[in-house]
Order: sequence, then structure tokens, then C-alpha cells
Amino acid sequence: MRVAVLGATGLVGREMIGLLEERDFPVDELLPLASPRSAGAEVLFRGRPWKIQAVTEQSFEGVDLALFSAGSGPSRLWAPLAARSGAVVVDNSSAWRMDPQTPLVVPEVNGKAALRHRGIIANPNCATIQAVVAAWPLHREASLSYLGAVTFQSVSGTGRDALEELEGGARAVLSGEEPVSSIYPHPIAFNALPHIGTFDDDGVSEEEWKMVRESRKIMDLPDLAVSCTTVRVPVFRGHSEALLLQFSSDLSPQRAREILCAAPGVVVVDEPALARYPLARETAGTDPVYVGRIRRDTGREKTLALWVVSDNLRKGAALNAVQICETLLEGGALRP
Ligand SMILES: NC(=O)c1ccc[n+]([C@@H]2O[C@H](COP(=O)([O-])OP(=O)(O)OC[C@H]3O[C@@H](n4cnc5c(N)ncnc54)[C@H](OP(=O)(O)O)[C@@H]3O)[C@@H](O)[C@H]2O)c1
Repeated sequence: MRVAVLGATGLVGREMIGLLEERDFPVDELLPLASPRSAGAEVLFRGRPWKIQAVTEQSFEGVDLALFSAGSGPSRLWAPLAARSGAVVVDNSSAWRMDPQTPLVVPEVNGKAALRHRGIIANPNCATIQAVVAAWPLHREASLSYLGAVTFQSVSGTGRDALEELEGGARAVLSGEEPVSSIYPHPIAFNALPHIGTFDDDGVSEEEWKMVRESRKIMDLPDLAVSCTTVRVPVFRGHSEALLLQFSSDLSPQRAREILCAAPGVVVVDEPALARYPLARETAGTDPVYVGRIRRDTGREKTLALWVVSDNLRKGAALNAVQICETLLEGGALRP
């Protein structure tokens, strides 16, 4: 199997290559692709260096599977071409997510949708993936009618340059200097920015619309009521979310814990009296979606409040993409 990774030098691309190795995905030949800036550099895969090439119109000839994580512009440009060349594209950007022909897949929720692809499969937004992994098994028991989310999203969700901005900003503040911001509209160090993507005329941000639209599409609940505020916080890795889930029938916190303990991809950490709940620092670099603080909401009937944490570079991006590839392989939609 010839596997291309577009965006191989980025935070997500590197994680993808690491996961292909870690999960022993059957790669015969790796084709790491990026912009001309990185051409000639190398990435390590299975103990040997592989040369990075600048993506061109010829890059996808003979490629079976192409994992994309280079942003929406390159995805719009290259994904149709790669698909026409015969590759199956698993795309991490937002370019194709809401295209009706393109499946938007979280394997724990709608893995079979991946098998109906027409050449491109979209990987959802990081904040949306962890929310639906937690909400879906509860929905199957009690029928979800409302999803409310406030997110606390780490800077690695913005890419490698944002990590430097947080580190530099934190050092500046601690040295008594003014932090510089070029990636974010305000300094991210020691701050919380309720601003991810651009705002529409009603003041709703792009990231908030992603949560609304993508969660409806993945769970196939087109009329689900969703409200969301997305916030960037000075955490290097790992998104945290405060969710409110309202159901048609009553679901006790204890029953929700039982369901989530048995749910694929979920780990319950819920002993608040012992100060045990999921934390971004403790869960960074791991695969599951962690759920804690499971309790009845104080303001709404038939509603549970949850605290959900996951590594945005793994389940929020690279791991979900590699799991989609595994689903394709198991479903016979990729040749082994
Ligand atoms: N970070 C997350 O948690 C996360 C989660 C879900 C989805 N995503 C999506 O995944 C994508 C990548 O995110 P990231 O965090 O890995 O970003 P990143 O660290 O900034 O890396 C960007 C990658 O894209 C490549 N690239 C940029 N422009 C390109 C072009 N015109 N042609 C070819 N390659 C180009 C870069 O190559 P060079 O080294 O040559 O510049 C680099 O490999 C984005 O679409 C993002 O929205 C990210």
C-alpha cells in the first residue's frame, strides 16, 4: 500500500505518521508531502528516514491512500485530484466536511459511512469529535434532544506556530514584558480568548458553527438543538469541554457512568470528592476521550452535565483519521 501524508511536517501530520507506525498499518511505501518550504527534509518512519517532497500534480499517481492535514486551501486544491488518481483521501481540514457527497466520520459513531465514500472522507473538527464520542452512547439509550457546549481548546489546535506564540508569550509575561501576538488577536499566555475563527453577522464564530453542523451530520440528527461557545486557552495540548446533554427520557448519572464505561474509546474518570476528573495535562499524548463530573444539571430537566477531555492531536485529529483508514481496510474499501 502506497500511503501519502500531505502536511507531513505539521503537528497533525507528524502524529499521523507516528500512529501509522504505532498501529502497524500496512504501509509499503510512505510518501511524505508538504509545501516547497520543507522539500528535502526527512521524517522518520519505521526506523528509517523518508524524504519529504513538495506536493505537485504528479504526487498522487499510484497512491492508494492519502491522509491530508495541510489546511483547507491545499485540501480544496489537491483532494479532488488525488481522488481522481485513484487514492482514497482522508481529509483533516474543514474543506469537505459539510459537502453532502462526503462522509464525515467518527468510527465509534458512524464508521459505516466511511465505506460509502466517493474518494474523499472528512475527519471532523477536533472539538466536535470528542463531544460526539461522549454523547453518542448516551443518545442511543435516552435520545438526545439538546447539546450545549463550552470548550477550552488548546493552542496545538491552531498548529505548530501557535505553540511558539504561547511559549514566547508566557516567557515575556514572566519577564515583565508585553507578550507579542501574531497568530491570535490577543496574547494567549495567561488569557482565555472566546474567539476561534471569524464571526458571522450574528456574532457566532466559525468554530461554534462547526460544532453545531458537524455534530448534527455525524450523529444524523439534523434537528438537534446545539448551542456552543468556543474558547482558546493557554494549554499546549488537549481540549476540555463542559457539555450539557438533554434527553427525551430521564437518564441517571449512575446509568450514564455505566454506559460510558462500556463505550468504545471512552474512559470515565469521575471521583470528584478525591479531586479525580479528566485533566488536559494528564491525558495529553493518550488516545481516549475522558469523561468526568457526570451529574444532573441544576437548571434543566432530563439533562446531564459532563466534563470531557481529549488530546486534540490524537483523537481530535490524527488518531480519528487513522481509525477511518482502519475502518476502510476492515470493510474492504482499501486493498490490503
Ligand atoms: N491541530 C489540531 O488539533 C487539528 C485538529 C483537527 C484538524 N486540524 C487540521 O489539520 C490541518 C493541519 O493542522 P496542523 O495543526 O498540523 O498545522 P501545522 O502544524 O501548522 O502544519 C501545517 C502543515 O501543512 C503544510 N502546508 C501548509 N501549507 C501548505 C501548502 N500550500 N501546500 C502543501 N503543504 C502545506 C505544512 O508544510 P510546511 O512545513 O512545508 O509549511 C505543514 O506540514 C489543518 O487543516 C487543521 O485545521 C488540526
